[in-house]
Amino acid sequence: MFQQLHLTNAIVSLGYRNAPFAVLLALLGTLFAPASSSIADEKSGDTTQSTLTVHKVTDKVSYGEKPDTLADWNHLHQLGYKTIISVDAVAPDKKTAETLSMHVIHLPLGYARIPTNRVLDLAKSTQSSSAKVYIHCHHGKYRAPIAAVVACIADGSLLREDSGAILANTNCQEKYEDLFQSAVTVRPISKERLRFHRFQTEKQQPESPTVIWMSELAKPADRFFSATRNAQTFANTNREALDQDSRLIRQALSELSRAHQRKDIDYQDHLNTALSLAQAIDSLLTSPVNTEDFERVLLDRSAALHQCCVECHRKHR
Ligand code: HEC
Repeated sequence: MFQQLHLTNAIVSLGYRNAPFAVLLALLGTLFAPASSSIADEKSGDTTQSTLTVHKVTDKVSYGEKPDTLADWNHLHQLGYKTIISVDAVAPDKKTAETLSMHVIHLPLGYARIPTNRVLDLAKSTQSSSAKVYIHCHHGKYRAPIAAVVACIADGSLLREDSGAILANTNCQEKYEDLFQSAVTVRPISKERLRFHRFQTEKQQPESPTVIWMSELAKPADRFFSATRNAQTFANTNREALDQDSRLIRQALSELSRAHQRKDIDYQDHLNTALSLAQAIDSLLTSPVNTEDFERVLLDRSAALHQCCVECHRKHR
């Protein structure tokens, strides 16, 4: 309606000398009309558009970020992805998946090297799926691409020499070296071995998210705290290793708080404090400018974080 009114005005202002052009414009108006009504139809169903970007690894397997909205799920469904593997700490939205006859598998990963059993789980899932597979973590930047490459090399559908370009597309190597190495060292697994592998879903795993994420941050925290104990130990510290460890600690605490909400307020307070300290340390280390009091602030925050770990353990472990 609005469009036609607009066109009529245009015709009037163009005058008679431009009559053929005006006719063209009027014709365009009728062409536009059905298009605008189909937009209205879409709006009556799902109003939001999916912003999900699907990155292809093989014809069967792709990766990306977590599908959040119904539009995202519909988008994946329309592209033919019927098996959704979440390697995020948070379990996938099974209900939405089921309404679309999609199948979800939860195979959480940390940022450390992917354990052999998990490599088998991933390869078995991609190999045995009869439909296209979408693998996602939270942001689709590190865990998902690595998991997708690992799954495809292990199940024999991707050659290692073809994985270089996909891996180069992520900057995982600089950020999470151990996780990255999983994709470099993985080997194809025999069909026999995959056939007999029984994969472990989260439910069958006895460990709680706390145990999983605490054991993930144990080693980096050990290294980090011994380097930042005082100015003397800090003097011979490899800055790159320190950055990596601080990032691993921050990620583990952040994944734990996303995956696991305890009712206990004091526990939750400690977790929030630990997470904000870890974030503050990480942003201090990644900041391009080192202020004069950089070292003192870093050592102070590190001591405060250590104190928080100890306190939470004393009360809640
Ligand atoms: C919010 C509370 C809380 C904070 C903060 C916390 N932890 Fe823990 N941590 C726990 C609990 C609870 C357990 C025991 C988990 C279990 O056995 O169920 C644990 C267990 C551990 C373990 C043993 C894991 C294993 O393999 O059994 C380590 C190592 C650990 N924490 C390190 C740390 C470090 C380092 C920090 C600080 C950066 C930290 N934790 C901060 C609550 C916390």
